[in-house]
Amino acid sequence: MPVIQEMGKYGHEQIVFIRDEKVGLRAIIAVHNTVLGPALGGTRFWNYATEEEALVDVLRLSRGMTLKSAAAGLKLGGAKAVVIGDPLKLKSREFFHVYGGYIDSLGGKYYTAEDMNISAEDIGMINEVTKYVSGTPAKSGNPSPFTARGVYMGIKAGASVKFGTDSLEGKTVAVQGLGNVGYALCEHLHKEGAKLKVCDIFNSAAVGKAVKELGAFAVKPEDLLATDCDIFAPCAMGAVFNSENIKNLKCKLIAGAANNVLLDTSVGDALDRLDVLYVPDYIINAGGVINCGIEIENPDWRYNVDEVNARIDGIYATTLKIIALAKEKRVSTSKAADEYAEGIVRAGRG
Ligand SMILES: NC(=O)c1ccc[n+]([C@@H]2O[C@H](COP(=O)([O-])OP(=O)(O)OC[C@H]3O[C@@H](n4cnc5c(N)ncnc54)[C@H](O)[C@@H]3O)[C@@H](O)[C@H]2O)c1
Repeated sequence: MPVIQEMGKYGHEQIVFIRDEKVGLRAIIAVHNTVLGPALGGTRFWNYATEEEALVDVLRLSRGMTLKSAAAGLKLGGAKAVVIGDPLKLKSREFFHVYGGYIDSLGGKYYTAEDMNISAEDIGMINEVTKYVSGTPAKSGNPSPFTARGVYMGIKAGASVKFGTDSLEGKTVAVQGLGNVGYALCEHLHKEGAKLKVCDIFNSAAVGKAVKELGAFAVKPEDLLATDCDIFAPCAMGAVFNSENIKNLKCKLIAGAANNVLLDTSVGDALDRLDVLYVPDYIINAGGVINCGIEIENPDWRYNVDEVNARIDGIYATTLKIIALAKEKRVSTSKAADEYAEGIVRAGRG
């Protein structure tokens, strides 16, 4: 892949390729944009089949972080890092120290945090050699409960537009993926009296727990998309919806945590035609980045969970703003979100 050409396509500033023979580290850090401030984005540890697959992932995810932080009102840019390999075989304190050294060498242009297969404890080890981290166990910690809170706010805002009330009592919500975010989201929804339909292809224990403790109904993976529900919350992986499978949807609202759930932008337009309201993923899954980001914006600030939650609850208003913009400009909500976030970055550039 012609890498510099690809950087131009997405508008990236810098890409760092890392290799350390001794600890078996292979990683890519993609700094997409630092116009609004230092670039924040988690490190994903994944056994990618090829380097090209890792590069494509990091380029897409880092651009998404720029848009997510901008839309969330953070004075931060966007970046992401991917570590290539088997986390179970490679993780060690020495491994994270070597990796942390590379982050440190960027001098604060890039801050890392948790992502798939990177825990708050791993971030703590990276923090032993560099200050350019967020989400350490001693401070903001695991972002997932905060992400779940923001998604819950986004669902309520979407419901207020689609159903004329933001109360989720009695509404049926299908949740795909009961991991860190999905399960915590189910707890919020259950507390408010929503009925849950859940599915997780790998974590049957979480499904069993949701059935037992939250009164959820377990749905087979192949039946989930077409299941009867008011709201569909994708909290597993990306590219869930394509122009064909959306014809089977029974829901009126899609709002969840997973990134890039629409296969491409045309799916956003097709959902509009089907009268299904799509609440853009990066607008409502910003709770975790808000939780980490406030710490970076204000280095002297003492971590205060109430302040963090108040900022996250602002996702409700941002969601309403995006839906209103889409209506006004007669574009899909995903296009409206991109235009909104890109406008903030452009204004920051001056
Ligand atoms: N954790 C965060 O703070 C955060 C922030 C922003 C976005 N996200 C995104 O939200 C999603 C969930 O994040 P997480 O931290 O809960 O991840 P996780 O790995 O803890 O959970 C994902 C769950 O989805 C399940 N799953 C995978 N494929 C599935 C499928 N086809 N059908 C049903 N279940 C499936 C997995 O078994 C797992 O239990 C991810 O896409 C992530 O990128 C997470």
